[in-house]
Amino acid sequence: MTFITVDQKKCNQDGICAAECPGRIIEMDAESGYPRPAADFEEICLKCGHCVAVCPTGALSLDWIGPDECRAIAKELNIMPDQAEQFLCGRRSIRNFKEKRVSRPVLEKLLEIACSAPSAKNRQPWHWTVVEDPAEVRRLAGMVVEWVRRVIQSAPQEAETMGLLRVVASWDEGYDRICRGAPHVIVAHADKTWPFSTEDCTLAISHLNLYAASMGLGACWAGYFYKAVNAYPPLFEALGLPSDHLAYGAVMIGYPRFRYRLIPRRRPPCITWR
Ligand SMILES: Cc1cc2nc3c(=O)[nH]c(=O)nc-3n(C[C@H](O)[C@H](O)[C@H](O)COP(=O)(O)O)c2cc1C
Repeated sequence: MTFITVDQKKCNQDGICAAECPGRIIEMDAESGYPRPAADFEEICLKCGHCVAVCPTGALSLDWIGPDECRAIAKELNIMPDQAEQFLCGRRSIRNFKEKRVSRPVLEKLLEIACSAPSAKNRQPWHWTVVEDPAEVRRLAGMVVEWVRRVIQSAPQEAETMGLLRVVASWDEGYDRICRGAPHVIVAHADKTWPFSTEDCTLAISHLNLYAASMGLGACWAGYFYKAVNAYPPLFEALGLPSDHLAYGAVMIGYPRFRYRLIPRRRPPCITWR
């Protein structure tokens, strides 16, 4: 099988593809001077596409992707550091939502971009379960509260640490601290045996949160929600998650009711220089 195809008319033999390959499995052929796959290419290749993406002349194709199938990076869309700073520091967790639902194509776009997050070995282990129906979100939030009541009974110390008493008190007064009235909840879940599922899903959710802000959507981690998914089997089943998965995060999603005007100061970085 030809894993790498090199268009020799385009290749300038600069060796950038070999240098950038994270697996070090592209070699420069000593005789011809062109890149070629190493013996263990198929076994080691992460399918990250770096070699195709970095080639300045578009000379290299893999058996699953070529330069023509990649989107070009548009220089005019690059953002300046002060734009990035405002964007990153101006993002807020949103806890008040309009009643308006987010359309499926918008949610699909959000998840497509979330999937561009880094993941260990480029495994991309995340799966997404989207609770689309606001009434179902409310019903599932009620199940989280059922779990919370059990934790308060069985592990009062833990319940205290997690602030669970207030969750129940608010629910009983008609305020939902679990999903905050969001029309949708997105759960990230993955194979529980993959050692990096936590990090990979967390990063994807972080991408999701940031991209949501750019789309004018509001998002907020739903910490109680996903803890309950893993700890309370009726909720796990209600979501229909595969039995070999765990939930690694959940996010409330909707359109924000209010607009933020200011960026509050964070604590300064706690740095140790050595
Ligand atoms: C893992 C995690 C779980 C969280 N769970 C909740 C939650 O259940 N409910 C909530 O209102 N906010 C939750 N948050 C949001 C944090 O409270 C919020 O990020 C923090 O107060 C900083 O505010 P900011 O996100 O607006 O900068 C969670 C955040 C993280 C990272």
